[in-house]
Order: sequence, then structure tokens, then C-alpha cells
Amino acid sequence: MNAPLVNDSLLRALLREPTPRRPIWLMRQAGRYLPEYRATRERAGGFLEMCTNPQIACEITLQPVERFPLDAAILFSDILTIPHAMRLGLAFETGEGPRFDRPVRSAADIARLFVPDPASDLRYVVDAVALIRRELRGRVPLIGFAGSPWTVATYMVEGGGSKTFARIKRMMYGAPRDLHRLLELLARATIAYLNAQIAAGAQAVMLFDTWGGTLTPAQYREFSLQYMAQIVDALTRRADGRIVPRIVFTKGGGAWLDRIAAIGCDAAGVDWTTGLAAARAAVGDRIALQGNLDPAALLAPPEVLRAEALRVLADYGPGPGHVFNLGHGITPDVDPENVAVLVDTVRGYRPPA
Ligand code: CP3
Repeated sequence: MNAPLVNDSLLRALLREPTPRRPIWLMRQAGRYLPEYRATRERAGGFLEMCTNPQIACEITLQPVERFPLDAAILFSDILTIPHAMRLGLAFETGEGPRFDRPVRSAADIARLFVPDPASDLRYVVDAVALIRRELRGRVPLIGFAGSPWTVATYMVEGGGSKTFARIKRMMYGAPRDLHRLLELLARATIAYLNAQIAAGAQAVMLFDTWGGTLTPAQYREFSLQYMAQIVDALTRRADGRIVPRIVFTKGGGAWLDRIAAIGCDAAGVDWTTGLAAARAAVGDRIALQGNLDPAALLAPPEVLRAEALRVLADYGPGPGHVFNLGHGITPDVDPENVAVLVDTVRGYRPPA
């Protein structure tokens, strides 16, 4: 039995219930900007070694929660664990980003893929979730996550990161049925994976659609949103006697928030290119919003950072349904002191009466 949750403001805000103050957590809150992260990475030997070792994944997940009064922990893992489990030969070169030895380029490559069994192929993630829940002792909720099928497919087809997405877009235009087969498989794999995370103790889940914003509006609906909708629809709704909120984050998706709100998720992530007031006007009272400070504001002098954070808080306006976050992940060059300033600013904020 896990300890009862002491601070549930994240879960409440994601369901648009009132909270005493705006909850805050930060994408990539466990990462290279923290000296303790860099020390653990040194000891572990590499990024994949950290992800695949539940003790280390747990230790890293807790690092930011122990340093700052954040309102959530997010599982330390990666969106590429699913293709890693499909045996595509994943490696993270230092300073290079991810690389696959066996990228997926043809119908035959797609036909060879399989849905990994979370209980065996991704056991290290499930074990990490259970361990983190135990070690959190109910202080704050634990967020589980996965990549969107479209975003994970971009890495599988390109063989790593990309600027132009030429290979997957060639497939999208030239062999759309093949791409749909790949996305369907990824959707099924993601449903099993996230439901295993929920069963192991994840109290909210988030889909990272980092590259959905590279699509046209029609392509976004057909190749990204459709599959996120299938996933949201198939996720376990309740665990530990509470609703498990689902967050959908499409970077660059500000113009499509109305569509995102319609798929049945509880909250949408918003990047810094869309104002929260405009985002709120688009979704109305259907879903909560999470975001959206420019991550580069963490490079500003502390007074400027405070002012920018207050601007985000005020832009959302009164009433429940806002989870403070960045518009994308923290970068490695951020001073942890500035993260302390940001968390303090958001915790101290009281909306004007
Ligand atoms: O938010 C968190 O603190 C949880 C951990 C988390 C990581 N990756 C750890 C990580 C999460 C939620 C992710 C998701 C992820 N991974 C995404 C979607 C979100 C996003 O940032 O857009 C994507 C596209 C990936 C794939 C990925 N993983 C890339 C492109 C890279 C290299 C970029 C980089 O910053 O080096 C990674 C590596 C990665 N994932 C690191 C961390 C902390 C850095 C690894 C290191 O060098 O120590």
C-alpha cells in the first residue's frame, strides 16, 4: 500500500477543481542543469543505463523534488523506450541525441515490428514507477508519460533527430498506408505501456507530441491527433480510487487546442508561442491548461524571470484549471538558482481579488 497523497493540487488542477495555489512542475525538471544529475550520469555511465536501472531512475526522479518545492514528480525515462524495446538498437551519443542502428524505412521494416510486452520488455520502467511511488511517500503525485505515435515514429523513421523530417514526410506523402500501420502499432504499444505505468502507480499521464507542430492542420488530425485520441480513449480511468488525468502536449499546436480539447483529454500543454488567455478562450471550460513560460526566461536575471512568470500567471486569469510549467523542457545551461526563484514566484502568487 502506498502512502496517501499529501499534496494533490496537481491532480485537482488537471481536473479543473479549485486548489489553494497554482501547482507547478517543469518539463525536464530532472536533467543536465542539475549537478547531482550530472554526477549520477557519470556514475551510471550513460543515459540509457540511467533509464534502464530502476534504482537510478528513481534517484534521478526524486532529485528535483528534493531540491525544490515542486508539486509533481515526473518519471525519469524517455519517449524512445518503446522503439528500444522493439529492438531497433537505440544509442545516445554524448551531445548528439538519440540514434537507431536499425531505422524503419520500408513496409517490410514495419511488418517486422511488434507490440512490446510492458511486463517483460519494459519491466525496468514498470519497476521504476513502483519504486518511485514508494520513495515519494505521498509527498506529490507521480506523472507517467510516453511520446505520441507521430513523434516516436519520426525518430524511428529518421533514425534519430531531424531538422526537416524528410524521410517520414516522404513516407507520409508517398506511402501513407505504411505510415498508418506504423502509427497504429505505436498507438497499441503506447496504450499497453501507459496502462502498465498506471497499474504500477502513475497518478497522471502525459503524451509528448514534440513534433506534431511540423504538420499541416489536416495532417496533424490524420497522423498525430487521431492516434493520441485512440490512446486517451483506452487508458485506465481510475487508480487508487482517483481519476488519472491525461495531459496532451503538442509543441507548436496552439492553433489546434480546440481540436485537442475534443479528444477527451483532461488537460493540454501549451508552448510559449500561444498566450494562455487565447488558449483558454479556445478550450473554454472543457479542459485544463499546462504551461507556458518560455524556457529561455530561465536564462534571464532573477527579477526579469519573476516578472515573466507573473505575466504567465496573470495571462491565465482567475479560476481553476492552470498547472504552471514551461512551454518546453529546461535546457542544460540553466542555473538551478533561477529554478528556485521561479518555483518561489509561482508558489507565492495569489490572484488579484
Ligand atoms: O521531464 C522530465 O524530467 C522527465 C524525463 C524526460 C526525458 N525525456 C529525459 C531526457 C522526458 C519526459 C523526455 C521526453 C522526450 N525524450 C521527448 C519529448 C519531450 C521533449 O523534450 O520534446 C523527446 C523528443 C525525447 C527524445 C530525446 N531524449 C532527445 C531528442 C534527447 C537528446 C536531447 C538532449 O537534451 O540531450 C533525449 C535525451 C534525454 N532525455 C535527456 C534527458 C534528461 C538528456 C540525456 C543526457 O544527456 O543526460
